[in-house]
Amino acid sequence: MRVYNPVEMPFPVHRPRRLRSSEAMRRLVRETSLQPSNFVLPLFVCPGEGVRRPISSMPPHCQISVDVAVEECREVYSLGIGGVILFGLPETKDEEASGGYDPNGIVQRAIRAIKREVPGLLVITDVCNCEYTSHGHCGKIVNGDVDNDSTLEWLSAAAVTHAQAGADIVAPSDMMDGRVAAIRQALDAKGFSNTPILSYAAKFASVFYGPFREAAESTPQFGDRRSYQMDPANAREAMREIELDLEEGADMIMVKPALAYLDLIREARVRFDVPLSAYQVSGEYAMIIAAADRGWIDYDRAMMESLTSIKRAGADFILTYFAKPAARLLG
Ligand code: PBG
Repeated sequence: MRVYNPVEMPFPVHRPRRLRSSEAMRRLVRETSLQPSNFVLPLFVCPGEGVRRPISSMPPHCQISVDVAVEECREVYSLGIGGVILFGLPETKDEEASGGYDPNGIVQRAIRAIKREVPGLLVITDVCNCEYTSHGHCGKIVNGDVDNDSTLEWLSAAAVTHAQAGADIVAPSDMMDGRVAAIRQALDAKGFSNTPILSYAAKFASVFYGPFREAAESTPQFGDRRSYQMDPANAREAMREIELDLEEGADMIMVKPALAYLDLIREARVRFDVPLSAYQVSGEYAMIIAAADRGWIDYDRAMMESLTSIKRAGADFILTYFAKPAARLLG
């Protein structure tokens, strides 16, 4: 049998442009496609009623009160979007992050309202302390540093209150060691053995979270997050982090940010046979919005190309501030 060897049959036999000759042809051979169900929309829920407070670096996104969030979720659901992920702005912040694990906290109230009014919509919750601590760090401060093991108690307590309020999935994003195991154990002990954990397994100390911190009012008041979030230079360590989280019981994993870490999305896709997500973070969104706003880039195409690249790299679903416009465009 003759072995196929493209080198022996170069141009003019091979003309890859043949398969790009029309939109119909391109559609036939397209390898990657996006669906609204691949997107998860982040929402920032704040106290009050009828509140829509614009987030200046992420237009048209707003901090929204629970009633507005419910309306937003009706629209998200009607667009066929995969789900929402909730972040909370508590009435008050303190050293103990108590708003994060208050059974009547802002996120817990939002979950109950959304699950009551739009029961078919998947509600994911971000499990982290930075929105609830007065100092803006993701855990308890002991001797000037974020203490790992005592932080696990807050995270577990928060995850349990989210599950009790009706959250479909909990997603720890703090990067403490052992949090997946701690949360799994706490959920199981309270009868929530069926609540999945989506772990922000490979989350980097990234500059691209800037606009989010305005949105969530969670900028650290001293220092930075480099003692818990990962060094952007490390790829092998990212695989190790994912492996550990899966061993601890994570059901799904995430790479975050997305666009500057496509290599790791691909690597994770090849290595781990679990649902894989990627977070197209606030700074990635803001860059496209800002450039489009100046007429320097086409909004729709930049949005779709960036989302397609993340899916092509291997993500099954994408947390993205473009969820609604992208879903609309996909029609
Ligand atoms: C909470 C959290 C952050 C993001 C998601 N969860 C901020 C951070 O780690 O500082 C960032 C999301 C974004 O930038 O869109 N820890």
